[in-house]
Amino acid sequence: MRIGILGAGRMAEALGAQWARAGHRLMVSGRDRTRAAALAARLGAGAEAGTFGEAARFGEVALLAIRAEGVFAALAAAGAGEGALAGRVLVDCVNPVVEGFVLAEGDGRSMAERVAAAAPGARVVKGFNLCHEDVWRMTPPVFDGVPLGVPLAGDDPAAVAAVGRLVRDMGGVPQNGGGLARAGLLEATAALVIGLWVGAGEDARAMLPPLAYAAGPPGDAQSEPGSR
Ligand SMILES: NC(=O)c1ccc[n+]([C@@H]2O[C@H](COP(=O)([O-])OP(=O)(O)OC[C@H]3O[C@@H](n4cnc5c(N)ncnc54)[C@H](OP(=O)(O)O)[C@@H]3O)[C@@H](O)[C@H]2O)c1
Repeated sequence: MRIGILGAGRMAEALGAQWARAGHRLMVSGRDRTRAAALAARLGAGAEAGTFGEAARFGEVALLAIRAEGVFAALAAAGAGEGALAGRVLVDCVNPVVEGFVLAEGDGRSMAERVAAAAPGARVVKGFNLCHEDVWRMTPPVFDGVPLGVPLAGDDPAAVAAVGRLVRDMGGVPQNGGGLARAGLLEATAALVIGLWVGAGEDARAMLPPLAYAAGPPGDAQSEPGSR
């Protein structure tokens, strides 16, 4: 696959390294051409550096790996409003989480929905936002023998399937997070778990039971999903 990366920072490097290793063709981009070129060189595998606009048009997939406060400036610089990302799968890993581990005040829409509005025709998929960059560098990301689940939210099934292949390429397992209207839940989940991990020093993973207990203890006929 040809993947253009908007951003030349930590997530661009973590995910880019995985996808370069898996044999994908990459173009990275940033405000600072030198920084993008240095990242391309570190990624190797023929990775190129370009402008935001060149990366947006580079391939069938684009990764938005920009800090939340710069997202709309970067999309504008990429020409997203003029259709530069139309028809392309746009992976949004952005967490609009601010001090206090809460979501930045917005206009009622999730970041992913605002990204979709700013990039007409792009097939936006929210994902890769729940783990630290160093987890995304793991090959593969496996904990206690269980591969990392990566929930994806998007409205275009073919786009979600393409991003699911990119999850599998790094050894994770894609999870069905529903349509783009549910992307805000992934963003809120990031705020919650970052607050638990970083703010409170709690093991966020310990708060959820295994699937078999999702509707109560196994064999408990009284319990139905969503009944409590
Ligand atoms: N790091 C993580 O562990 C992690 C995990 C999950 C999700 N995320 C999300 O992934 C996204 C990228 O995170 P990151 O850690 O890779 O960030 P980062 O390394 O700090 O920066 C990423 C990119 O954002 C660009 N940028 C910052 N402000 C900008 C602006 N005003 N206009 C245009 N570009 C701007 C930076 O450009 P310069 O190089 O020119 O500053 C850089 O290329 C964020 O939205 C974050 O919430 C991060």
